[in-house]
Amino acid sequence: MEQYIMKGGNPLVGEVTIGGAKNAALGILTAAIMTDDNVLIENLPDVRDINVMLEAIQEIGADVDRIDRHTVKINASNIGEVSVDDEYIRRIRASYYFIGALLGKYKSAQVPLPGGCNIGSRPIDLHLKGFRALGADISVERGAVVAHAIDLVGAHIYLDKVSVGATINVMMAATLAEGQTIIENAAKEPHVVDVANFLNSMGANIKGAGTDIIRIRGVRKLHGTEYSIIPDQIEAGTFMCAAAITRGDVMVKNVIPKHLEAISAKLIEIGCEVIEFDDAVRVVGKPIQHHTNINTLPYPGFPTDMQPQITVTLALAKGTSIVTESIFENRFKYVDELARMGSNIKVEGNVAIIDGVKSFSGASVNAPDLRAGAALVIAGLAADGYTTVDEIGYIQRGYECFEEKLRALGAMIEKVDSERAAQKFQLQVG
Ligand code: UD1
Repeated sequence: MEQYIMKGGNPLVGEVTIGGAKNAALGILTAAIMTDDNVLIENLPDVRDINVMLEAIQEIGADVDRIDRHTVKINASNIGEVSVDDEYIRRIRASYYFIGALLGKYKSAQVPLPGGCNIGSRPIDLHLKGFRALGADISVERGAVVAHAIDLVGAHIYLDKVSVGATINVMMAATLAEGQTIIENAAKEPHVVDVANFLNSMGANIKGAGTDIIRIRGVRKLHGTEYSIIPDQIEAGTFMCAAAITRGDVMVKNVIPKHLEAISAKLIEIGCEVIEFDDAVRVVGKPIQHHTNINTLPYPGFPTDMQPQITVTLALAKGTSIVTESIFENRFKYVDELARMGSNIKVEGNVAIIDGVKSFSGASVNAPDLRAGAALVIAGLAADGYTTVDEIGYIQRGYECFEEKLRALGAMIEKVDSERAAQKFQLQVG
């Protein structure tokens, strides 16, 4: 069983280059099957969720040509199957995008109900409400969503809750519906905008992505395109927190600083220096950092996917911080693991009350999900002594070459698969 082993204490110093956005890529890859022409996608992150998605796309009959690690060509003219039933696909939440893409193109889809990280109840009722409003017949049969439509017809859809997935999914189906669709209370996340830009580059007519009202005029057909995915806001934010928590100095390159504003603002509040460049941010951690309060919110608010990373950072800041998780109710499971490293955090419902401690001590911990796993790694890099993080498959779902990138910044970290390899690492680093 693979695990990360690390010896904490080195401030992270240097430059790191951020890859393409996983969550944008998941939407874009499924949207790519909505045309019969060739689609070339660049800046694809090479992470597990993406590779699972590509397998599933291939499984339903599309040609997937991985030109290199970060570039893929997709041709979906041979899709013979509107039923997605790949055992892996159930594990990734974004499998729900197949419903919007297949329903839009073929007016028919059968897709297993999604899995993904266990961070709370994650219904897809809003997605289904949107598809029904477009005229689709939807039922859930034997664990799968079954969707059919004679014609999809544009509609006025109000999303009761801001949902990234529902916004992207309904937007995809509406792209090939007749007439105009208006999505109100749409999510404004950078990846919603990226998927809309991608669809527009294929001939869709989508306006307003990035605001809370998206207007889509349906088109009859989409054509091929070449497209480069935006940088990953959460990977960037994770390295920003890694710089802060280790009191390091890291230039985080290939980012869109605007997408990072909520994270930068909080790091500045706790006393870090954050310097913005055109496509980079430099974060300089300070020996003494201060408490602050954070509430996770839809974009442009503080992202829920950065909540564990900022919480571990605050656990080593002076004073009492309060972090409120407003998006997913079950996202503090890693706090018990962090307690093994000496943190002092009390969780009451969706609120964590964090009393900053002076130091962490290394321990053996388990990654309970993707982002919490990454947070435990950066906590380990700031801890005294050795930390091991198990269940790193979660982390590999969303971070490409995580340990290599950290090592290039001076971290003492290794991925090992046996007790012997772990001992060898300990002998090497001393
Ligand atoms: C996406 C991201 C995930 C991120 C989340 C919030 C992907 C693949 N995943 O997840 O990393 O944490 O956005 O930024 O892009 N909800 C409903 N009914 C629905 C849909 C959602 O009640 O039909 C609720 C959810 O339970 C949650 C909130 O709405 O409380 C937001 O969820 P949503 O934005 O849809 O998250 P995902 O798209 O699943």
